[in-house]
Amino acid sequence: MMHVLSCSVIFLSLLGFSTNDVFESWPTTKLIERDGYYGETHNVTTEDGFILSLHRIPGKLNSTPVLLIHGLLCTSALWVVLGKEKSLAYLLADEGYDVWLANSRGSSYSMSHVNLTTDDFEFWDFSYNEMGIYDLPAMIDYITSIVNDKIIIIGHSQGTMQSFIMESERPEMTEKIKGLICLAPIAFLGHVEWRIKNIGPVLAKIANFFRNFGLLNSFGVQTLAFKTILSFGCKLFKIQNYFCQNIYYSIIGFEDHQFNSTLLNPILDNYPAGTSFKNLIHFSQDVEFNVFAKYDYGEGENLKIYNSSKPPDYDLSKVTSPTALIYSKADWYSNPTDVEALIDVLPNIIDVYVVDHPKFTHMDFLWAIDAKSLLYDHVIDLVKKFSN
Ligand SMILES: *[C@@H]1O[C@H](CO)[C@@H](O)[C@H](O)[C@H]1NC(C)=O
Ligand SMILES: *[C@@H]1O[C@H](CO)[C@@H](O)[C@H](O)[C@H]1NC(C)=O
Ligand SMILES: *[C@@H]1O[C@H](CO)[C@@H](O)[C@H](O)[C@H]1NC(C)=O
Ligand SMILES: *[C@@H]1O[C@H](CO)[C@@H](O)[C@H](O)[C@H]1NC(C)=O
Repeated sequence: MMHVLSCSVIFLSLLGFSTNDVFESWPTTKLIERDGYYGETHNVTTEDGFILSLHRIPGKLNSTPVLLIHGLLCTSALWVVLGKEKSLAYLLADEGYDVWLANSRGSSYSMSHVNLTTDDFEFWDFSYNEMGIYDLPAMIDYITSIVNDKIIIIGHSQGTMQSFIMESERPEMTEKIKGLICLAPIAFLGHVEWRIKNIGPVLAKIANFFRNFGLLNSFGVQTLAFKTILSFGCKLFKIQNYFCQNIYYSIIGFEDHQFNSTLLNPILDNYPAGTSFKNLIHFSQDVEFNVFAKYDYGEGENLKIYNSSKPPDYDLSKVTSPTALIYSKADWYSNPTDVEALIDVLPNIIDVYVVDHPKFTHMDFLWAIDAKSLLYDHVIDLVKKFSN
């Protein structure tokens, strides 16, 4: 692998290409430094032994902490990738808030465990269920013990599921929360875009097959091989760049007015980050059965684990923190029909906001050129409301 890599680099240099850009890596800390902010990295250990890294842009003295939780296959970097005066994390920092950026287990910056390594099957034996029950409470306990104040949570996609699961499974945590702001909220998934609905469960069955034989446990981890494919396939040549963008569009939604292709390098360096096969399978179960329920192990195992043949639903009536929902009518994943079903069951909604753009996609919540005017200004107003 290294040999192929270095040969290719020499070959490209001979052709006069600069490969520096292509192989430059853009971790969250470097992006924060590039943009002129002071950043910190903190380690938090969960009850079940995962070591998560939390990034922080410290706020003014006694400022309210705001925790941003990324979605599926993302990392903390996606909250800063748009750059100064555009990224949500910086806009919050500019307002003086104490900004914390989560990294869920199994994503690029949270791949350690006190006893396990990423080669162990047990390491990858988690889904968003564990992120809600262990990761989020551990991060909130850590932050609130340092700053001695309640916290405001902003989640995107899977990040919102983690908040809902935490509040339904560990309701005592709500005492530490001032409010939840949910971007592209997800609980029910029965109405995802039809292509995803058709192909998701099929891919999940294949994933399950590999997983059962212990062949593959994780997906999309930013390994050298993966990075090389992305670098050559997506970054180097304009035509391939175009090709690559279109693969993205077919997964995320066809839209390019809000995508800034200059950001492709830092985005691809952080997305798709890793997660477990089990997590993807859990997602596909919710898509297939239109539920927001615990992991389905099959009837026999379910009886042992849950004392019922079907996995129990998460009890959304326990999500009692003041909740704001922000969604887009064009989102393939957080579909308006599913968001409306969620609105019907959440007990303490204080605001519902629809992004005013006809083609705003699931990932535009993080990297749309006009994210500030389309939704972040509104998010900041909500944060001000919650922090008073
Ligand atoms: C955080 O954990 C990582 C991985 O275990 C380790 O490499 C790093 O040194 C730790 N950093 C701090 C500040 O403890
Ligand atoms: C790690 O291993 C030690 C020793 O076997 C054990 O006591 C501890 O409970 C383990 N921790 C976790 C989180 O699994
Ligand atoms: C695209 O991103 C680059 C690099 O951050 C920035 O200089 C440029 O202004 C952005 N373009 C738009 C239309 O926002
Ligand atoms: C299991 O479920 C049955 C029927 O719902 C109930 O009667 C029983 O008490 C449950 N057992 C446990 C250990 O919760």
